[in-house]
Amino acid sequence: MDFASVVEGTTRFAIPRQDDDAHFPPGTAPVFFNKRMELNRDATILLLSELLPSDYLDLMAATGVRALRVAHECAIPVIANDRDAAAVRFLRDNARRLNLPIRVVNRDAHALLATERFETVDLDPFGSPAPFIDSCIRSARRYLFVTATDTAPLCGAHLKAGMRRYAARPMNTDYHPEVGLRMLIGHVARETMKYDRGIEPILSFSFEHFHRTHLRLIPGVRAADRTRTSLGYIHQCPTCAYREVEAELLPGSVICPYCSKKTDPIGPLWIGEIINREIVQNLLERIPTMILGSKARLTRHLTLLLGELPLLPHYDYHLMAKRTGASPPAMEIFLTRLRERGYRASRAHYSGTAVLTDAPLDIIQDVFKVS
Ligand SMILES: C[S@@+](CC[C@H](N)C(=O)[O-])C[C@H]1O[C@@H](n2cnc3c(N)ncnc32)[C@H](O)[C@@H]1O
Ligand SMILES: [Zn+2]
Repeated sequence: MDFASVVEGTTRFAIPRQDDDAHFPPGTAPVFFNKRMELNRDATILLLSELLPSDYLDLMAATGVRALRVAHECAIPVIANDRDAAAVRFLRDNARRLNLPIRVVNRDAHALLATERFETVDLDPFGSPAPFIDSCIRSARRYLFVTATDTAPLCGAHLKAGMRRYAARPMNTDYHPEVGLRMLIGHVARETMKYDRGIEPILSFSFEHFHRTHLRLIPGVRAADRTRTSLGYIHQCPTCAYREVEAELLPGSVICPYCSKKTDPIGPLWIGEIINREIVQNLLERIPTMILGSKARLTRHLTLLLGELPLLPHYDYHLMAKRTGASPPAMEIFLTRLRERGYRASRAHYSGTAVLTDAPLDIIQDVFKVS
């Protein structure tokens, strides 16, 4: 097979050459290699350099971009699997060319996970990770990393698909990327706690067209119970922007205090922290020392994540302005005004217009109006 050469991080690898595609370097194949996932892979390289686990399984490695980078840039023992024979040929050739001692496996994901355990399992499928989560949890000793690109089902835009895959009820709201990310983590949490194990999100985020979470799996009933108490609902008013969070596995009945309508429960989803602040702080200190193609964007994203208040869900500043019919003050002025009134307020990584605050809805609306 003909191939093209690509560099990501400090790793040079071959990818299959196919028809031209506007989104990819000339002659590279979107089937095997998605350049737009570079930030996703950079974040993994950065985090693994910090965690240094004893092994790393790239469960669906395709051409092995991620696996090759982990072996080369983090010096961690890597196992790279794909059920596709052509992908595995590429993987083997790449590993040989780079002289990397990667163990290459050509099996179905479930079969491999059922027969071996790994300290770190990374699941990066096409579309939904849902059919693989249980197998991954059973095999992963310590860390589980998951990418989800089925953002429409997760955020409620494709409601029935979301409910089927994640056994929870999403809703398409002003804060849809957050619903997607928290639905994903919530699903992994429920699949984990049945084994008397818990999860701790180390680094989770939404970016463009995907969600990504890096979790620590913690053994024991106490950890599982802590995980259970981080599951709950967002009750969303169907007519106004009012929302309320409830930490329960079954939703209560909540009436909107502003318009007396019965709110709709979204969930169960993860209502706990989505990052480990100490580790993300360490990543921000480490990142200047690394060679990463998405360094500037990743630094911005991690800075936003670290600056997020531990509140949920966020408001969309533009949509709030639209709702109140006001021409909004600049974002920073808006945040300052909320703080001046004694409330906490921060940006959030979900979008350039995402705001987290503990101010009640009437105060937020007021702040818009006095612009
Ligand atoms: C999105 S690609 C992986 C991309 C890769 N991780 C990267 O960063 O470039 C998904 C891969 O999963 C493989 N795959 C899909 N279902 C699988 C299964 N049940 N077992 C093993 N591999 C599978 C496909 O052959 C495909 O190569
Ligand atoms: Zn209302």
